[in-house]
Amino acid sequence: MTVSTSNSAVWHPFTQMKAAPLPLKVKSANGIFLELENGRQIMDCISSWWVNLHGHCHPTIAKAIYEQAQKLEHVIFAGFTHEPAEKLAEQLLKYLPNSLKHVFYSDDGSTSVEVALKMSCQYWHNQGQERTHFIAFEGGYHGDTFGSMSVGRTAPFWQPFHQMMFDVDMISFPYTFENDSDIRRKEELSLRCLQNLLEHNPKTYAAIIIEPLVQGAGGMRLCRPEFLYRLQLVAKEFGVLLIYDEVMTGFGRTGEWFASIKSNTQPDIICLSKGITGGFLPLAATVVTENVFNMFYSDDMNKTFFHGHSYTANPLACAAALASLSLLEQSTDIFTSMENIHRRKSAEYLKDPLHKKQLANLRFCGTIMAFDISTENGTSYFAEIGPKLKQEFLKHNLLIRPLGNTVYLMPPYCITEEQLDHIYKNICEVLNSLP
Ligand SMILES: Cc1ncc(COP(=O)(O)O)c(C=O)c1O
Repeated sequence: MTVSTSNSAVWHPFTQMKAAPLPLKVKSANGIFLELENGRQIMDCISSWWVNLHGHCHPTIAKAIYEQAQKLEHVIFAGFTHEPAEKLAEQLLKYLPNSLKHVFYSDDGSTSVEVALKMSCQYWHNQGQERTHFIAFEGGYHGDTFGSMSVGRTAPFWQPFHQMMFDVDMISFPYTFENDSDIRRKEELSLRCLQNLLEHNPKTYAAIIIEPLVQGAGGMRLCRPEFLYRLQLVAKEFGVLLIYDEVMTGFGRTGEWFASIKSNTQPDIICLSKGITGGFLPLAATVVTENVFNMFYSDDMNKTFFHGHSYTANPLACAAALASLSLLEQSTDIFTSMENIHRRKSAEYLKDPLHKKQLANLRFCGTIMAFDISTENGTSYFAEIGPKLKQEFLKHNLLIRPLGNTVYLMPPYCITEEQLDHIYKNICEVLNSLP
């Protein structure tokens, strides 16, 4: 059934209201289950746009928010501070690469990136250099505000805005998967292109931005830690800032606390959001090195970073994030071992000769498993098979939202091996039913 757009008061995000099926109305949620109004239970296999870490309505986070709401719900964050924000900054720094020293709060993934881009520009401006160009990676997604769209300009969504975007040079992302024999050539190509740009345009670029280890919305495309290591060396050699957009990869998703930790690399700036509150409230952080911070730390008022949002460092969100971090500390075994379960279940359920023909580019990174369905038109976000598969998975009571012809799992960490087994078995059934 399709939505009768004219009488829907709500306009949904990333949704063609005319063509989309009626949205399912969720009454409550618990663990990995969403419960609809009619009592139907649906397994959330993608952590609701990748935010939910510990399962829905985790009582520890709910309690932390309730207790905080009775003490301080919100306060202006300029000229005032509060314990949850201060504690959270200290806690975050404990788990991030130790070169990162200062936390700037904002509201969501897009704004954490926007902040990083603006900081990078002003970092140079405050030193008397105008550097307004960026380097980013094809297939990247960094959000839907103007700056984040500009550095994610190859995404298929932004055509109406191309004229308004700022200057970004895109280089290829060395995308890899199981048994990829061509990866070294792809990495060389990207790095050569990067070096070329930096050699021919010295003092032009403010920063390089990348989603480290996994490009999320671009199709769960992986790169190797080795590539990030070499990328960091080139950035350092040419003195350009390196921004990691860990909005999706943060908080255990890649099988380590952060992709930067997994790859043993130290960017100048890291963007965080999504899982930061365990999926309860919007919050984001842009975390920087002492060097970046120092370029703003001055007696000169003009060197101030004039940026901030009404809800910056909202105490409820910070309390939720602190509770989520304490849960995460108890979940390290789970997020570090989930890749093994994905590998076992894939070997068990996706090995059929039929699947071999249908499936391409099987890939794993920590809690994430993805593969592409081979179609005649190659890989595309708008591949017709995506919405069809989504509906088929829903018939099996699974929330799996393919990115075009890419199917992936990114479940909350409370999922059990038995539940994962059930999910893989049902994916197998759906694939078997494809014409
Ligand atoms: C890597 C990355 N950066 C930024 C964003 C934007 O985050 P938000 O949707 O919270 O603005 C996303 C969202 O999917 C993302 O995956």
